[in-house]
Amino acid sequence: MTTGIDLGHPQAQSVRSDEDVVRVRQLVRSVAVAVKLSLVDQTKVVTAASELARNTLVYGGGGTVEVATVDNGVRKGMRIVFVDSGPGIADLDLALTDGYTTGGGLGLGLSGSRRLVDEFEIETSPETGTRITVTKWAR
Ligand SMILES: Nc1ncnc2c1ncn2[C@@H]1O[C@H](COP(=O)(O)OP(=O)(O)OP(=O)(O)O)[C@@H](O)[C@H]1O
Ligand SMILES: [Mg+2]
Repeated sequence: MTTGIDLGHPQAQSVRSDEDVVRVRQLVRSVAVAVKLSLVDQTKVVTAASELARNTLVYGGGGTVEVATVDNGVRKGMRIVFVDSGPGIADLDLALTDGYTTGGGLGLGLSGSRRLVDEFEIETSPETGTRITVTKWAR
């Protein structure tokens, strides 16, 4: 079976438009299939990636998403990094609260994404912007 995805190298997708967010979803879906995530976990990780890529676009002023496979010797999985050089997230605890939004959204993107993945890490500052790393393991 061929997936068309080169699992040996991280895949990068720039995020400058709505179409790019769709491309992120497609890339994440392909890699999720390739590392044999269950159908439910594929949907979870695609949903999380969609929300985080949209934040990269809307609040970060655009950026990059990188998708890589990971293997800890027991499980295979995937890691996705969302990078922007926007203004950063001023109050991270607040931003991770259900319903908090500065943009008139539902305020569920960050908090919901965190629940949909296995590992979730945010580095953010006004100087460097925002970098969010998520990992989903096949089980
Ligand atoms: N990459 C980012 N850079 C700067 N601020 C961000 C970034 N991502 C999120 N935020 C801030 O965190 C808040 C919460 O994000 P979250 O995705 O949870 O909600 P939302 O985007 O406002 O609404 P929703 O995603 O539900 O449509 C945002 O309103 C914004 O203030
Ligand atoms: Mg959002």
